[in-house]
Amino acid sequence: MSKPSFYITTPIYYPSNKLHIGHSYTTVAADAMARYKRLRGYDVMFLTGTDEHGQKIERRAAEDNVTPQAFVDNIVEWIKELWKTMDISYDKFIRTTDQEHKETVQKIFKKLYDQGDIYKSEYEGLYCTPCESFFTEHQLVDGKCPDCGRPVEKVKEESYFFKLSKYQDRLIQHIEENPNFIQPQTRQNEMLNNFLRPGLEDLCVSRTSFKWGIPVEFDPGHVVYVWLDALSNYISALGYLQADDEAFKKYWPADVHLVGKEIVRFHTIIWPAMLMALNIPLPKQVFGHGWLVINGGKMSKSQGTVVDPSILVGRYGSDAIRYFLLREIAFGQDGNFSNEALISRINSDLANDLGNLTSRSIAMIEKYFGTLPEVQEGNEFDTDVQRVIKEQVAKMEENMEKLFFNNALEDIWVIIRRMNKYIDETMPWVLAKDEANKPKLAGVLYTLAEAIRIVSIMIEPFMPQTPEKIWVQFGIRRGELTAWDSVHNFGQLPKAVVAKKGENMFPRIDKEKELAILEAEAPTTDKKEEPQAVAKTNKKEVVKEEVEEVSEITIDDFTKVQLKVGEVIACEKVPKADKLLVSQIKIGDEVRQIVSGIAAYYSPEEFVGKKVVVVTNLKPVKLRGILSQGMVLCASDENGSLVAVGPLGEIISGAEVR
Ligand code: MSP
Repeated sequence: MSKPSFYITTPIYYPSNKLHIGHSYTTVAADAMARYKRLRGYDVMFLTGTDEHGQKIERRAAEDNVTPQAFVDNIVEWIKELWKTMDISYDKFIRTTDQEHKETVQKIFKKLYDQGDIYKSEYEGLYCTPCESFFTEHQLVDGKCPDCGRPVEKVKEESYFFKLSKYQDRLIQHIEENPNFIQPQTRQNEMLNNFLRPGLEDLCVSRTSFKWGIPVEFDPGHVVYVWLDALSNYISALGYLQADDEAFKKYWPADVHLVGKEIVRFHTIIWPAMLMALNIPLPKQVFGHGWLVINGGKMSKSQGTVVDPSILVGRYGSDAIRYFLLREIAFGQDGNFSNEALISRINSDLANDLGNLTSRSIAMIEKYFGTLPEVQEGNEFDTDVQRVIKEQVAKMEENMEKLFFNNALEDIWVIIRRMNKYIDETMPWVLAKDEANKPKLAGVLYTLAEAIRIVSIMIEPFMPQTPEKIWVQFGIRRGELTAWDSVHNFGQLPKAVVAKKGENMFPRIDKEKELAILEAEAPTTDKKEEPQAVAKTNKKEVVKEEVEEVSEITIDDFTKVQLKVGEVIACEKVPKADKLLVSQIKIGDEVRQIVSGIAAYYSPEEFVGKKVVVVTNLKPVKLRGILSQGMVLCASDENGSLVAVGPLGEIISGAEVR
């Protein structure tokens, strides 16, 4: 009998910048699922790749004086290398510059045009000539180009449009009838209420203002515009409309498209509408996960908050990073990344819980027996241990089906913690003192070894390197004893367990030391921001591919920050803190104490008398035990310079900054 198939995809990444840990999160999650399904006997197709066209790439390549193709080739190589170091087991890596993909997209475009789902019209928008970019009213800054600050003009551009509006009712019906189509549930409501029910506009699917894209075959002045090109990857990768479409027949419809929350909309509105127009089945599920954030904000190069996964993998190994990503963040919700949280998790869950359980158990088998004797006796805790394992395996399987990775990992850790408790309960070192207790001791150690074997199989989707390291210590080879089905039956391991202590899988990390190293290795800021997809609706919609920062705020958000001019009336160094100054700052009638990390740039004497801009409604905090009631604004650049920000003319302290 042939295996059931399972098709899972990640979004295809923009190669305009190197990827950060947030991107790795999506890919690691998809990889864990792909590995799990393979273990469960599925014929898996796991697709990832790169989204390489668009004006942004064209410009970046021109800046670097290379062709767009050479530009993307270089970054794609780096991305593939990164996935290798993170043990990403993709079955296919699609690039939108692949010849097959381009042909499929051209055929899709033509088919939709021939059947009347794509039509030619005009896109009217606000255009910045030097930047060669269209913007919506909303995207402008003070009515000017958000990129270069120059005036924009209203222009019309001939474009092709896809009749998205035609599919609105069918889409609503599909979503309502298939509650699993959009997960988690909250995203489904968001799509229905914010986009579908208010009404869809047709979508611009071609551009004439740049060249780096797939040409519209029958109208060469046009290139296919972003989402039609990008989304088609999920079927072009399988050979849709190509001579060999075996994979398409086998794997489509996809079981799950895993995407970040900001692109759920494209995957649950544009993509299914395109598929309806092509008359092919819709994917079974689109799962929109949350973001990995830093201090509550999205990672951003310009703010110096990107985390380079290769540095972390280099220091702690890929299994530890993969574990952290999937354990720390409730899948579907945003989760905070910090070096501190990472190190704490490694120390507590990996070094303490899993590492100790394995090393203690193996050390005891080695010390007391070498090879366990066949004569073994049970004890009063065994029934509970076996019950816990059985229950946790069932729970973990259930959570995996829902893509609740953090819960699935917690399920496994319940077993690990139970087994550590079992060691305390049975006290093997006490049993070892009395020869008569040897059968009992052997029974305890067997139970430990068997539980560890089961755990090692359960963690494999998340941590592909660790199981092997455990198995060699027990002399187990991949086979029946490492197969998924064997986790359902306690007692598969032959009685004569042999154990030999191997390398320390997860050495404890010295937190303070490590944090200092990570801080020193953190990348400096870089103004070339990567594109993060988000889009606005417009009358006729143009989704700008290099799109604005996702974390943009409204004027209402901005006015929540209270800024005032303050005058530094006293200042001194904070003892034992090289970087900190504590200032007394007069703001109108009051004096605030504020701690700032500027000692490397200003001496206390220099800073006294300066007029600065202060955030006055920031929640007070204690820094090195000193109360800080606000924040002095400073500007810094990538060369390491920093200056405090102040008013350019005469103004009294306490004046509001707006
Ligand atoms: N090219 C489009 C996707 C087209 S799919 C047909 C795109 N690319 S992207 O490189 O900007 O983002 C790819 C994925 O990475 C998205 O799912 C996005 O949500 C995810 N992430 C980028 N930053 C992230 C975090 N900080 N946290 C979690 N995921 C993040 O969008």
